[in-house]
Amino acid sequence: MVKKQTQMYYGADYNPEQWSKEIILEDMALMKEVGVNYVSINIFGWVSIQPNETTFDFTFLDWLIDLLHENNIMIDLANGTASPPAWLVNKYPDMMPMTVHGNRLVHGSRQHYCPTSEIYRRYAATLSTAVAKRYHQHPAIVMWHINNEYTCHIHECYCDRCRSRFQQWLQDKYQTIDELNRAWSTTFWSQSYGDWHEIYLPEQMPTFKNPAQQLDYRRFISAMNLEIYQIEKEAIAAYSRDIPFMTNLMGLHKYVNGFQWAPEMDVVSWNSYPNPFSDMPYPQFLANDLTRSLKKKPFLIMEQAPSAVNWRAVNGAKKAGQMRLWSYEAIAHGADGIMFFQWRQSRGGAEKFHSAVVPHGQPSESRVFKESCQLGNELKELQAIVGTSFIADIAVVFDWENWWALELDAKPRTLKYIHQLSRLYEALRGLNLAVDFVHPDEDISAYPFVIAPNLYSTHASFGDKIKDYVAGGGIFLTNFFSGIVNENDQVYLGGYPGLFKDILGITVEEFYPLKDTMHGQMTFDQQTFTTHLWEEVIHLKQAKVLAQFNNDDLSNTPAITCNQYGEGFAYYIGTELAPADLTVVLSKIIQDNHLEKAAQQFIEAETPVSVSCRQGTGYTLLFLINHTDIDEHIVLKKKGYSLLDEKPLSEIDVLAKDLQIIKILDDQSDS
Ligand code: GAL
Repeated sequence: MVKKQTQMYYGADYNPEQWSKEIILEDMALMKEVGVNYVSINIFGWVSIQPNETTFDFTFLDWLIDLLHENNIMIDLANGTASPPAWLVNKYPDMMPMTVHGNRLVHGSRQHYCPTSEIYRRYAATLSTAVAKRYHQHPAIVMWHINNEYTCHIHECYCDRCRSRFQQWLQDKYQTIDELNRAWSTTFWSQSYGDWHEIYLPEQMPTFKNPAQQLDYRRFISAMNLEIYQIEKEAIAAYSRDIPFMTNLMGLHKYVNGFQWAPEMDVVSWNSYPNPFSDMPYPQFLANDLTRSLKKKPFLIMEQAPSAVNWRAVNGAKKAGQMRLWSYEAIAHGADGIMFFQWRQSRGGAEKFHSAVVPHGQPSESRVFKESCQLGNELKELQAIVGTSFIADIAVVFDWENWWALELDAKPRTLKYIHQLSRLYEALRGLNLAVDFVHPDEDISAYPFVIAPNLYSTHASFGDKIKDYVAGGGIFLTNFFSGIVNENDQVYLGGYPGLFKDILGITVEEFYPLKDTMHGQMTFDQQTFTTHLWEEVIHLKQAKVLAQFNNDDLSNTPAITCNQYGEGFAYYIGTELAPADLTVVLSKIIQDNHLEKAAQQFIEAETPVSVSCRQGTGYTLLFLINHTDIDEHIVLKKKGYSLLDEKPLSEIDVLAKDLQIIKILDDQSDS
């Protein structure tokens, strides 16, 4: 049995290799003041514990782990494989990744290993074994932190080893070369192969590369990194099976297929770096829901900056209160822990101007330090949150493979998956609709409303699933450039959007994309909305029109449609709308179909405050987060009490840039 988390985790990446023992002892006192109960250590510790090939030296780590334990700090222990030591690279320069221009990278940064290097894998496994063997029984260890941010820097390698491994991987996948030729449409441009050895990686080529080859390369890179994760994990699992395994994901990071990786982890976590210049960083808010959705279980914010990062062109500082509010936004959406990168601001190295809980100056004079203390001390009182489940109202389909396919070249290049998702998400959050993300292979039957935004590429089986879902009474919404190709980037013939045209009751004859500077117009419910990026020629088959384009060639032609299919309805939006306009469209769909939101059970009226619910045993936690500049008053439908100050209440003020968490008991018969 894997040990369960019982406390809200709060802490940081801790890199004490960089500091003296005096400073580390000072850190223990400061951690107490901040309320730290969890730190991630040894992430970049390889050379400290294995200074050369034949020596393992755990003296420092032994001391540190005992010290943290004496100070009641739980440990997320990394196996230390994220940055291979110079002695290893010098002995085996061939383990380094190769760029598309044929340059081999050298030592002096981090993540410098080729994803198929047997040497890296072997030495990483040996290190993992040594760490696990030494510490698996230490009572302070509550998590195994494997490697760090796979593919963050290295998401391509074009060495000969990768090429032959790719050929092998393709052979395992397709079995026969004819099958590969079919999947890759190689009759186009005389690209057919007679033998696996003829196949290259999609490296430098004269013009557009084979899209199916590029897609398989993305799958291959994600799979090779997952193999590394599994090798490291297995090395540890030989000693330890009761401590959860995890690696820190990156939310909306393109190169790791999170849905494929999540089953290999006990806990999912991600590193969240919203830009402080953004008032409402929807992509990061979205990534909280996406990360939770990978396992449909609570997740961890494994890293966030207390204030500025060091890697943007302009590294904006988080404003007073911003870090606290955004941390609660993550908690409201399922986070059971908030950790920072990093605990103490480095003195040297590339990240010395990245904010940290303990700054270069005096902690007592630092707003960031004080805000970290405030949050840490609040979280101590919020144990009722741990392990509660997020209550979702609707499902939004997300697929990494679609992201890869949608953004390949030789198609509309201004159409970006995350931009579209983020606009949709903003519109949904404007209605306080709680979102679960689902993979196309998942069971969707429990959700009353499923949205598949810009699902350009998907398996035919997803089309069948949606047909059954809508026929059985489900509400489905999709939009432009969806249902166009299969998983090999081959068009579903017979008219766009091939896979969904029957349930949508339309066909799309031609796309009318708009240039950046162009906008069109659309009429919906007697209102005029501006259209962006895309319009198209839609023909009705069985569907009804809900909105029409108003421009030139497309005047009075359908822009939004609705089709009854069996017991349910399928909606289609043939353009990009601003989030506020999309909110209007979505709210009509919701009203027309009498869809209920979880939040409606608890609050009387619609509110601009962000509302989310988490379900515990016998109670619901209602999170009311006010991101606006105006105080809001909220009347509750049921009695509750405030988790932050324990007051019983039936109505409550949520001050500007502040929040309330209300505990509402399921059984209210005595009250
Ligand atoms: C993360 C990484 C950390 C640190 C941080 C800085 O990507 O895991 O080690 O580099 O970024 O923002």
